Amino acid sequence: MKTENCYILGIESSCDDTAAAVINNGVILSTIVANQEIHTEYGGVVPELASRAHQQNIVPVVHQALRKANIDKKQLQAIAFTSGPGLMGSLLVGTSFSKSLALGLGVPLIDVNHMQAHILAHFIKAEGQTAPSFPFIALTISGGHTQIVKVTDYFEMEVIGETIDDAVGEAFDKAAKILGLPYPGGPLVDKYAQQGNPKAFKFPKPKVGPLDFSFSGLKTSVLYFVERETAKNSNFVSENMADICASLQYTIVSYLMDKLKNAVKQTGIKTIAIGGGVSANSGIRAAMVDAEKRYGWTTHIPRFEYCTDNAAMIAMVGELKYKEGNFAAKDVVASARLKL
Ligand code: KG4
Ligand code: ZN
Repeated sequence: MKTENCYILGIESSCDDTAAAVINNGVILSTIVANQEIHTEYGGVVPELASRAHQQNIVPVVHQALRKANIDKKQLQAIAFTSGPGLMGSLLVGTSFSKSLALGLGVPLIDVNHMQAHILAHFIKAEGQTAPSFPFIALTISGGHTQIVKVTDYFEMEVIGETIDDAVGEAFDKAAKILGLPYPGGPLVDKYAQQGNPKAFKFPKPKVGPLDFSFSGLKTSVLYFVERETAKNSNFVSENMADICASLQYTIVSYLMDKLKNAVKQTGIKTIAIGGGVSANSGIRAAMVDAEKRYGWTTHIPRFEYCTDNAAMIAMVGELKYKEGNFAAKDVVASARLKL
């Protein structure tokens, strides 16, 4: 199917961001994200509160996306929505809303895998972004997932490595919590890290399979380290925040890079694309740029707004599936544990 004059609405509601975006021929006309501040008070996402906030936000967010794209809902050719993985209560809001809207407008409905969307966000036509050529290795790093994926075509993806426990974003957030930083702590660790010495403290890198990850031990070692040092100096954390964050970020980034090096060695593929919330991290972004010179890789880093959860990536996958006539069945359901 042709997509020149085709407008597709993407809707994302898998976790705590309600988002809507309009795409036209690979170009994003609008991308709106409503963050849910409420979870900061609780130090993490509260599923019940997340689904309620989605219900409040979804209509205004969609209206805003249409208004910003300067189109009427009658011009939409399809509705794409996140069907999983994610929090069930959150997914249900986007799924039900999208089904009703598609039915009301009489247009096809397209279900999108959130993790696939983090990878395919690279195909959005935008300044500062070039699409990776197939085959490539995707490192998807978010609050819920950490995977190394071999991508041979848009919808041919094979997970070749993943975390056996926590996701890398979770590791950032849990370590940040131990340091007394508010949720989500990842971006704050990144901010402090930029002023600190990455070699000030040493944290262990967990040993698992060559392409797999483990992050739960890192959280425990940060906890013991902070307890030990605080017993000697009660102001240790506040006095050393930048150095602790820089050392922690250095450990995580070099661990991710070790795994990518193993993946390149194993597959012979030297084109690397990162995706997911943690790809907003300045350390991993710098490491990707450095790897081009150091190892001769071709690396792809998404634009900042397409790293953390957004609906532009959902609309992008919607457009790719629309071209193939790959639509959802009327009885499609959300799936919290949807696999890649
Ligand atoms: O992809 P995402 O927005 O949501 C999920 O699908 O999980 O990822 C959110 C995760 C959070 O754990 C957040 O702390 C982390 O991405 N994150 C970062 C940065 N920005 C977001 N972690 C480290 N450095 C950052 N700059
Ligand atoms: Zn995500």
